Amino acid sequence: MSTQPDPVAGVSAPEPEPPAHPTRIAIVGAGAVGSTFAFSLLLSGLAAEIVLVDANARRAEGEAMDLLHAVPFATTTRIWAGSLEECRGAAITVITAGAAQKPGESRLDLVRKNTAILRQIVPEVARVNPDGIILVATNPVDILAYFAFRISGLPSARVLGSGTILDTARFRALLAEAYGVDPRSVHAYVAGEHGDSEVPVWSLANIAGMPLADFAVANGMGHDPGRLQGIFEATRDAAYQIIERKGATYYAIAAGLTRIVEAILRDQSTVLSVSSLICDYYGIDDVYLSVPAVVGRGGVERTLRLALSAEEASGLRRSGETLKALIATLDLDPA
Ligand SMILES: NC(=O)c1ccc[n+]([C@@H]2O[C@H](COP(=O)([O-])OP(=O)(O)OC[C@H]3O[C@@H](n4cnc5c(N)ncnc54)[C@H](O)[C@@H]3O)[C@@H](O)[C@H]2O)c1
Repeated sequence: MSTQPDPVAGVSAPEPEPPAHPTRIAIVGAGAVGSTFAFSLLLSGLAAEIVLVDANARRAEGEAMDLLHAVPFATTTRIWAGSLEECRGAAITVITAGAAQKPGESRLDLVRKNTAILRQIVPEVARVNPDGIILVATNPVDILAYFAFRISGLPSARVLGSGTILDTARFRALLAEAYGVDPRSVHAYVAGEHGDSEVPVWSLANIAGMPLADFAVANGMGHDPGRLQGIFEATRDAAYQIIERKGATYYAIAAGLTRIVEAILRDQSTVLSVSSLICDYYGIDDVYLSVPAVVGRGGVERTLRLALSAEEASGLRRSGETLKALIATLDLDPA
């Protein structure tokens, strides 16, 4: 730090630090997911500023107005509808723009539509905010997070996808119902693609440090592998089930995005199943998918090497190959 003479004491006094700017979170895509996330973020009190950006400017304005009127019941937060230029200085830009999954459509079907949309967004965000973090939620999230990483030119630690944070939450919620405990007491992860090829990591799932089968026996419950398989299938297919009933999913992903933002802004080093760059992991290389990762102020600090069973490892490899086959079809030119 440079110093200047203190006219009173005749000694050097530190120059004032530049004023710290308020914590800004930019949300690109103010549809169902983006606006629900904005609401969850507002209630969390984590952000001082929330800027909503959408190709449909009127939609973003309407959402910003509605959210602003919730501020007196929440934490003082500036909320407005803006442009991509206003992602400048954002600690995190959360991308939820894009077409949503239609009934019967797989996440991978969305790839072409949504890469074209991210092309319009990511290079500009990286240009105005080269020091920020990009968090992608748009589906297919693993493909799009990898795409954003490649076309942004940002370091991989600062480009992540929400990945299986949602599937892991669904898995824990359903297991918790089956075992009669708080979901927060169930430690279990879904790894791999956020989608059809995802992998339940049964071998490491536990309650109070006890594998699920031991927990069931110790508590006088039967251990029923068929029931557990049903829980995984309900987890994996939850989006289809919800979309069939109400057209979209947004509450749980909004809560999950808020949790990721919290881990980053508060530098919590939280272990979360987010989608990040995977290298030399059970034979998987150069793809984004979810394994538990340590998330803090720098983004993805490291991915954790899980001791997977042989079946889980081959499931994860298959998931990686599914994603890589799609990545091979993309134009990854940063220009
Ligand atoms: N990762 C997850 O776990 C998860 C969960 C639910 C939904 N999603 C995904 O999130 C995405 C959004 O879903 P939704 O239900 O909010 O859809 P939505 O249709 O309600 O909203 C999408 C918004 O994106 C905007 N948009 C489109 N192109 C844009 C552009 N170039 N720049 C800025 N904004 C643009 C649209 O105007 C619209 O407001 C979908 O891809 C969906 O599949 C992901």
